[in-house]
Amino acid sequence: MSTQTIARGLEGVLFTESAMCFIDGQAGRLYYGGYKIQDLAEHSTFEEVSFLLLHGHLPSKLELQGFSEKLVSLRTLPPVLLESMRRYPKDAHPMSALRTAVSELGMLDADEDNVGPEALYEKSLSLIAKFATIVAANKRLREGLDPIAPRADLSHAANFLYMSTGKEPSAEETKLMDVALILQAEHGFNASTFTAVAAYSTQTDIYSAITAGVSSLKGPRHGGANEAVMKMIGEIGSVENVSSWLENLVASKGRVMGMGHRVYKAYDPRAGVLEKYASIVAEKHGHSKEYAILKEVERQAGAIYNPKGIYPNVDFYSGVVYKDLGYDLEYFTPIFAVARISGWTGHILEYTKLDNRLLRPDAAYIGQLDLPYVPLEQR
Ligand code: ACO
Repeated sequence: MSTQTIARGLEGVLFTESAMCFIDGQAGRLYYGGYKIQDLAEHSTFEEVSFLLLHGHLPSKLELQGFSEKLVSLRTLPPVLLESMRRYPKDAHPMSALRTAVSELGMLDADEDNVGPEALYEKSLSLIAKFATIVAANKRLREGLDPIAPRADLSHAANFLYMSTGKEPSAEETKLMDVALILQAEHGFNASTFTAVAAYSTQTDIYSAITAGVSSLKGPRHGGANEAVMKMIGEIGSVENVSSWLENLVASKGRVMGMGHRVYKAYDPRAGVLEKYASIVAEKHGHSKEYAILKEVERQAGAIYNPKGIYPNVDFYSGVVYKDLGYDLEYFTPIFAVARISGWTGHILEYTKLDNRLLRPDAAYIGQLDLPYVPLEQR
């Protein structure tokens, strides 16, 4: 028997230092670079937050202008990639399309393996800019439409909406998208960020590391949960059904999608911000069945699970907001990726500046040793 302690799920394991994100899971507090998430969501833009995550401080007006212009200049996809994306299977999940497109971007970069600090920064900005273009182009192609070229006069959030829907968004829609992107841009060493940094610690190229991050985000226990929430709403069907649905869920030891978090044992502050916007959206439409079902699930499931530290997380209300902005279910996780690319690249830059030490945990061996080898024909 090993005497080593095993940290199942790596819970509570500190493997590096970081100044990007502070989470107080017990009190439900979240900060990026020292700033409260609520303040950033209310007052800043995705460009400002991305600058903060990559540079460690909020930009001055001049810095923000330069950073935004740089992102704009990097929005356009290589034509070869767009051609390739036209051939992706129409029924492939958009996260699979994004994963493949990021990998292709790497192959199309003649300087793919350059890990020098300037090249790494430039590639990070390019990925932040292009994630939105890839997801929007894939959406259009799946709808049987031509991708829309990015517009240089729109902000990141507005341009993403424009490329996705073909319509110039209103100021309210742009704000909603900015808030959604800001809330999901960063969250410490969650599974996808850890995956991306662990991959990059082998000194692979950044496209490979980010492809790994996208793969990790796709899972229903991580980024895929927002999609699972909308499926859950569909399963429940009406506010009246919540109580019988919940009874069955509890009896079968199921999980309420969009509730619970490895770190938050209180209300996820991001869910609080999104709830506010989801309620505005619901009001705009006079009535939203989805929102009403979620509020009832929150109330009834909360009575059972809140005492165990299980509360709504960021994914609980995000789907209602995305749906209002014109995105189908399968695009909820890709939107998350359009936001989280800033956190992934920020952490890769930060970890690389520190030392980029190879990540290599261990397991306590519980197998046998010195077994006699029996030739195949005698087994
Ligand atoms: N509904 C019901 N019970 C739950 C839920 C839930 N949503 N979440 C956790 N539990 C229960 C588990 O069944 C388990 O109970 P048990 O001890 O009686 O077996 C206990 O709480 C602990 O669960 P773990 O999975 O060990 O806790 P963990 O910290 O790993 O949970 C996780 C985190 C995976 C997110 C979990 O809460 C979950 O599956 N939630 C639903 C999916 C989801 O919303 N994911 C999004 C997370 S946020 C994000 O990635 C952006």
